[in-house]
This record gives sequence, C-alpha cells and structure tokens, in this order.
Amino acid sequence: MGTQTMMSSQELMELEDKYGAHNYHPLPVVLSKGEGVFVWDAEGKKYFDFLSAYSAVNQGHCHPAIIGALNNQAQTLTLTSRAFYNDKLGPYEKYITEYFGYDKVLPINSGVEAVETALKLCRKWAYEKKGIPQDKAKIIFATGNFHGRTIAVISASQDQDAKRNFGPYLPGMDVIDYNDLSALEKALEDPNVAGFIVEPIQGEAGVFVPDEGYLASAKTICEKKNVLFIADEVQTGIARTGRLLATCGNCDCGTHCEQKPEVKPDILILGKALSGGVFPVSAVLANDDIMLCIKPGEHGSTFGGNPLACAVAMAALEVVKNENLSENAMKLGIVFRERMQALVDKSELATLVRGKGLLNAVVINDTEDSKTAWNLCVAMKDNGLIAKPTHGNIIRFAPPLVITEEQVHQCCDIIEKTFMAYKK
Ligand SMILES: Cc1ncc(COP(=O)(O)O)c(C=O)c1O
Repeated sequence: MGTQTMMSSQELMELEDKYGAHNYHPLPVVLSKGEGVFVWDAEGKKYFDFLSAYSAVNQGHCHPAIIGALNNQAQTLTLTSRAFYNDKLGPYEKYITEYFGYDKVLPINSGVEAVETALKLCRKWAYEKKGIPQDKAKIIFATGNFHGRTIAVISASQDQDAKRNFGPYLPGMDVIDYNDLSALEKALEDPNVAGFIVEPIQGEAGVFVPDEGYLASAKTICEKKNVLFIADEVQTGIARTGRLLATCGNCDCGTHCEQKPEVKPDILILGKALSGGVFPVSAVLANDDIMLCIKPGEHGSTFGGNPLACAVAMAALEVVKNENLSENAMKLGIVFRERMQALVDKSELATLVRGKGLLNAVVINDTEDSKTAWNLCVAMKDNGLIAKPTHGNIIRFAPPLVITEEQVHQCCDIIEKTFMAYKK
C-alpha cells in the first residue's frame, strides 16, 4: 500500500486491531525504522530499543554486514528446498559447527521449531541408542519454562494463558523445579527418562539466573544416568549473557571461543540472534552419535537450511566475533546492574535487579496483575526508551549488544527519571 508511510501511529494500530488476530498486547508504539540501538516510530520519534525483539537483534538493528549478506544472497538464490543441494548450506554447516564445537547441525527456522527438533531427536536417540521401550520416553522440563508456542512445548508449560483450552496435551513430559538438583536426581531415577531440557537463564519467566554451578551439576547428573542434557539457548545464546553461550559459564575464552565451556550440552538449541533479527533462522547442534539418529525423510522443513538463511547466519555470527559482543555485554551488564541497584536503593517502585550480561530484569513493587509495570513502560516510551513487562510485575531490559557505555548511562538516566517521576 503506497500510502502506508503517510498513516499515523494511531491509524496503524487500529488496522492491526481490526484485521489482525488479537494474540498479542503490544505497547502503544508503532515502529517504522531501526538502526543499531535505535528505533523510530511512524511519526519519526527516536527510541532506545531495550527489548531487541526478545534478544533477536543482538547485533543491532539493520547491521550493514548482515543486511549486505542478505541483499547479495537475495539477488542470487533464496530457496531450493532440501530436495537439492545448495552452495551455501555446506559452508554454513562447517562454519556453525566449528563455531560452537559440534559434529553436526540441523538447520531450521523459528526457535520453537528448533525446540521441537531437539525433542524429536532426543526421543529418537532414546529408542535407538538408549533402548527405552517404544513410546515410553520421557523428557524432563523445568518449572517456569518457556520454549515457544507449539502444542508439544505448551504441554510442558505451566503458564495458564499459554495453555488454557489448547488441550489435549502431549504425554511423556514431566516438570520439576528449576534450579533444584535433588528434584533432577529424583526424576532421573526413572530409567525411561531420555532428556532434560533447560533454559540456562529463564528469560521469559522474568530473567531467573540459577545458582552458580547448577548447570554443571545438572549436566553431571544427566551424564551418570545416560540422559541427554538439552540447552535451550534461543534467548540466552549468542553473546547475550556476556559469553558466547550462557552454558559457557565462567569460561575464559575471551574474544575467540576456544570451546572450553563450563557445560557442554548434548543438544544445543539456537535461534533469534542467529540471524541478527533479520528473519527466522534457528539451529540444533549435536554430535554424530545423537544427530545421526535422524535419517532422510524423518524430519525437516521446506525453508530449513535455505541459502538466504545460511548467508545471513554466517554474517550474523561473524559480527558477534568481530565486534566482541560477548565482552561488551559482560562489561556493560555490570554497569547497567550497578545503576539499577542504585535505583532499587532509592525508589520504592523497584525491589530487585537481576540478570547476566545484557539480559536483565527489574522487579516492580506490585502484584502480577497490577498495571504498574505496564504504566512504567508506557512512561519510559514517552521518555524515549522501549521495554516490555514480563509476567505483569517484571520489566526485562535487553538492549542490542552494540550499545556503548555512554548510551547505557543515558538509558539508565531515562529509566531512573521515569521511575522517580512515576506516581501510582
Ligand atoms: C528460550 C526460548 N525458547 C524458544 C523460544 C521460541 O522462539 P520463537 O518465538 O522464535 O519460536 C523462545 C522465544 O522467546 C525462547 O525465549
């Protein structure tokens, strides 16, 4: 529609409301342009983006290297399906497996498709390698999990909004407390357990960081019982938490990943920032003994491994390495939390700040069904910074990782000013 750019934000919101399904409740801001850490609305007002499309835009909006790769490839070859080979897939598979240190990758599209792939792979391995009796395999999930929106993953969700009236749910899933090693040990006494899937930090639940050592111990418990440790790093992966992966823990690889993680998942799930937020690209990584359980015709997707995705993902991962995004996230995460702690100390509205790298949250002093966090986000938007509440009374703060220290301070000033001026 040629006149689209002439429409006001109000008109554009009304269009979405009238013609789109009501499956989201967006903050009232209509974005029409992005560059680096900034986005602009339809009227041309500029904002700091403090959500980064739920950590998909780690490399910043419209990163020139990623958009350059997109443009080049878009003019050459976009989609072949996997009925044929294409000249980008092999080089990408070599690149990403070496980057993360696995034998094989299964390329797919959205984050939840990668989670589904991992669950299917785990079940296949359970029957073909572990010897679990047919249809008895179980996968253990953690309380507060968020792995996407398909029937399979909402079957293990405890979020009633995500779950209500979407049954019947899938069997073969048990839920244990997050961050509870004895619960894991107990669950794994069942010989039919095939895998344990966990977010190294629970983003959607409100940025819950488990105890130091939890992931490493969980992996050891899984190893002892021949259970696959599956890390869903769709939100935490690719430099967001100050390391290449949140499972890297306190590894000291520095700028170049030498693959000395604290925890090496048996199956690693990536998405979001794998394309720098350009379009859906996700991946499941595993070694041969697991990945080769899936044979031709047993799993796939028309778009998975398309040449455009391969070119974009390689460019996006190069940016992460070349621009030292992990280090920046680590360093500026400390600055951000210090500033937010000072706010918590002086404002009655904020009770807690937590997080790792540039994946952080501030807990608001009100109930989950209160409007305070939402109203604060609207007020921050008016002051030039966009963020969104999660679970009603928690505000997640996750800017693009290309942000500078000076910009972090500017943003903290905006957040502080908004909180201090807010009247319930
Ligand atoms: C940990 C985790 N897993 C999976 C997903 C689903 O990804 P997508 O929305 O691309 O399907 C998300 C999305 O927020 C996520 O945070």
